[in-house]
Amino acid sequence: MICLGIETSCDETALALVRGRHQLGERMASQVDLHALFGGVVPELASREHLRRAAALYQDLLRDSGVRPEDIAGVAVARGPGLLGSLLVGVNLAKGLALGLGVPLVGVNHLHAHLMAAGLERDLPMPCLGLLISGGHTHLYRISSPLDFQLLGRTLDDAAGEALDKAAKLVNLPYPGGKFIDMLGRGHQPEPDLFPRPFTSRPGLDFSFSGLKTAVARHVADNPGLRIGRLPEDALPDVPGMGRFCASVNWAVAQTLRIKTRRALEAHRDARALVVAGGVAANSMIRAVLTELCAEHGVEAVFPSPALCTDNAVMIAHMGRLCLEAGLRHHMDLEAIPRGRAVPSDFASAPGGWERSPQKTSFLQ
Ligand code: KG4
Ligand code: ZN
Repeated sequence: MICLGIETSCDETALALVRGRHQLGERMASQVDLHALFGGVVPELASREHLRRAAALYQDLLRDSGVRPEDIAGVAVARGPGLLGSLLVGVNLAKGLALGLGVPLVGVNHLHAHLMAAGLERDLPMPCLGLLISGGHTHLYRISSPLDFQLLGRTLDDAAGEALDKAAKLVNLPYPGGKFIDMLGRGHQPEPDLFPRPFTSRPGLDFSFSGLKTAVARHVADNPGLRIGRLPEDALPDVPGMGRFCASVNWAVAQTLRIKTRRALEAHRDARALVVAGGVAANSMIRAVLTELCAEHGVEAVFPSPALCTDNAVMIAHMGRLCLEAGLRHHMDLEAIPRGRAVPSDFASAPGGWERSPQKTSFLQ
């Protein structure tokens, strides 16, 4: 059973095909360079770029993978949360393809797909906890099965990646700056009390990172020498104190994640693993801190490989396949869900969900 996945929730246009756990191919167009000019994602530009690239990527994907349209048995699309205009491009492409191919359509939760991506590479022990840390989200879940997610906590303002990106921007590192904070801080000793570990004194599992940004802004204002002038093309800047600054910001984020995740592991002692996903899961300090935490609690730490951590369409195709195989699908009134609104579980069940209608499909080549 081949499932097509479409991802357009933010600034990557991506399409992928999977057969079972086997990845047949992916085509992706990143808009990072475009948005870097503005220091952040510009929603209007993002949707226009998706519209410009998506259909051509579908054709490239079929050509590269050697899959024929009539081999595709289902179409999955990230239906939210994300930028509404961007999501609408993917959702409407998915509807058109599902209609034209005569196959079922399913809209998947982008955040759940991130966490289940690790399931492409290995069996995921259930129940487990899931920590999704990206530029837009910081969500902690209890996952009882690939289709049963319970939200335990979430950020009330900035996401973990956003906090790192904003700290990077304050010292003029390029966008998105999370990976530069990671790289420049590596090998340096963090100053543990330089920045707060926001919201950790409050009970519960919600996060709030906006206070960290304020503390970093104040520190940079007091230490203007940390601001980089012009960034060399091929080398990271050698600014005195930068390594310690980056390590300390990274430390504050990593420790905040550790404190809340430890609380969740203590409240869910039957959890057999912690799955960590999203772009920030690539962070070396956060990986080390969470791996150590899991070892202390006797649970497995599961990190998808880096290509599956950031936004991609393979995870959407995989999640879509799991839904379709469980008989879950959507009709043509599938809605895109913007950031800030909960993604509803409004599937239509379809006992024969994977059956194709006998429609001709050649016009979609
Ligand atoms: O999941 P993702 O690719 O996109 C969404 O936000 O959905 O995550 C992007 C985020 C950005 O904030 C970026 O700075 C961060 O992931 N990121 C990192 C690293 N690599 C990417 N943050 C810290 N350390 C890294 N190595
Ligand atoms: Zn994402």
